[in-house]
Amino acid sequence: MKSTFYSHALGLLGLSEVAFAVAAAASSSSVKINAGAKLQHVDGFGFSQAFTRAGQFQAADTAIQKQALDLLFSKESGAGFSIIRNWIPSSFDYTIEPNSPGSASAPPQYRWDGWDEGQLWFTKQAVSYGVKTIYADAWSAPGFMKTSGSEATAGYLCGTPGHDCATGDWRQAYADYLVQYVKFYGNEGLHITHLGFLNEPDFRASYSQMQISPNASEAISFIPVLHKTVDTAKLDVSITCCDATGWDKQSSYTDALVAAGMEHDLGVITAHMYSSDATYPLNTSLPTWLSEAGVGTSVGGFVPTWYNTGALNEGLSWASKIAKGFVDAGLSAYLYWEGFEIAQQQSASHLLDTTGTNNTVVLQSGIFHAFSMWSRFVRPGAHRVDTSGGSNLANVTTAAFQNQDKSVVVIFTNTGSADQPTDLVVPDHKAGSSAKAWLTDNTHKVEQTSVGRVRGDSIQVTIPAHSVVTVKFP
Ligand SMILES: *[C@@H]1O[C@H](CO)[C@@H](O)[C@H](O)[C@H]1NC(C)=O
Ligand SMILES: *[C@@H]1O[C@H](CO)[C@@H](O)[C@H](O)[C@H]1NC(C)=O
Ligand SMILES: *[C@@H]1O[C@H](CO)[C@@H](O)[C@H](O)[C@H]1NC(C)=O
Ligand SMILES: *[C@@H]1O[C@H](CO)[C@@H](O)[C@H](O)[C@H]1NC(C)=O
Repeated sequence: MKSTFYSHALGLLGLSEVAFAVAAAASSSSVKINAGAKLQHVDGFGFSQAFTRAGQFQAADTAIQKQALDLLFSKESGAGFSIIRNWIPSSFDYTIEPNSPGSASAPPQYRWDGWDEGQLWFTKQAVSYGVKTIYADAWSAPGFMKTSGSEATAGYLCGTPGHDCATGDWRQAYADYLVQYVKFYGNEGLHITHLGFLNEPDFRASYSQMQISPNASEAISFIPVLHKTVDTAKLDVSITCCDATGWDKQSSYTDALVAAGMEHDLGVITAHMYSSDATYPLNTSLPTWLSEAGVGTSVGGFVPTWYNTGALNEGLSWASKIAKGFVDAGLSAYLYWEGFEIAQQQSASHLLDTTGTNNTVVLQSGIFHAFSMWSRFVRPGAHRVDTSGGSNLANVTTAAFQNQDKSVVVIFTNTGSADQPTDLVVPDHKAGSSAKAWLTDNTHKVEQTSVGRVRGDSIQVTIPAHSVVTVKFP
């Protein structure tokens, strides 16, 4: 599968060389969108309500609940998120298989509580807004399937290379358990589209966890078993790997997975950004997702701030991470950690919070606005498309996309301290005259703004200092 990547990469290189020539020949102050030059496919944007947050959302006051759901999922007035990431609980209270059947070959006893810590309700809400991409990810196998005997202490899946256990080889049992979780959702009328069996396997946590070696040998020995089990169950589910703590770690895992032929059985490569951001493409032909992102409390709490000092709890910092992720790393999806939390303002690892007496007011973070500038406009099934020109726009990242409905979206992220005017050449389809633009900066929050018309084939756009401007050609 490696050769597929190289030919693909060479194709891209060819395109950008052509684009550069066009840019040099045309005015350096204009940006041109080459909608015919397709880059990566877009799966969408998302977040999680794992670890009890879905249950708190479900229990919230109904007016607040509706407001938060609209903000998260509405394509008209909200962020229009299109992916949710649920966890497959492994803790005794919530897992679908709380007790060991005694040995790996003994029949399992599954249970379904029709609640899943509120995630069943939350998934139904997301689907009612049109969300179609449901990622279910396990942080660990049940403890009795692991070398450590506990889901919350470090250990490996029994039966993977070098990890023999007295109770047997649990690889097939773990695959059956994951498939059973997907089936429970299927019985509720919900289609889990993506399935993960690891979370941060390069890290030792104080909660649900399961490790793999740097050469990913445990994953390589399990993925074919899971793929066959999913196939046999006739489920339409893409398998992901490995939700490592950072891009660099996932890059090493990916090289090992690709070398072992795992691209055949996997659907998506997933990584988090805690130990390193997505700033370069991974060597795989599979789509790559930044599947979890957030910030520790040490950088500050939940704030509405768009830009002040450039701290990591501010919106523009995230606008820049998303832009680099899609442009420099070729991401197909970007997911924040949590969406809605109640009175947790000590942390900025969620997008909406509450305040006021009895928590009756919903608060939006600057980070929420950063995501909204992308997720409302760039829809699942879009492709990123090539752009040329704009080389004089200091500190501006330009990303362009074509949606399935043929609308073209251009997102300018200006992290610099100067306003940047540019001519945007209208892409080659008829609706150019009805272009619309939205602006987020310190005084505008995803607010529609005027578009200046210049000539027949281009519009003038000013990208204010420290802002994101999203232009849409319907
Ligand atoms: C993978 O790494 C583990 C742990 O370092 C090692 O024991 C094992 O031999 C390695 N497997 C391969 C196939 O290189
Ligand atoms: C991908 O492969 C190319 C060619 O071997 C190499 O130069 C590049 O560093 C690799 N990138 C990553 C992220 O491993
Ligand atoms: C807050 O909730 C308490 C307990 O339900 C209730 O007595 C009180 O009236 C509420 N306050 C407001 C301002 O709604
Ligand atoms: C662009 O960024 C560089 C590096 O951070 C900085 O030195 C320069 O002043 C910035 N330019 C503008 C116009 O903000």
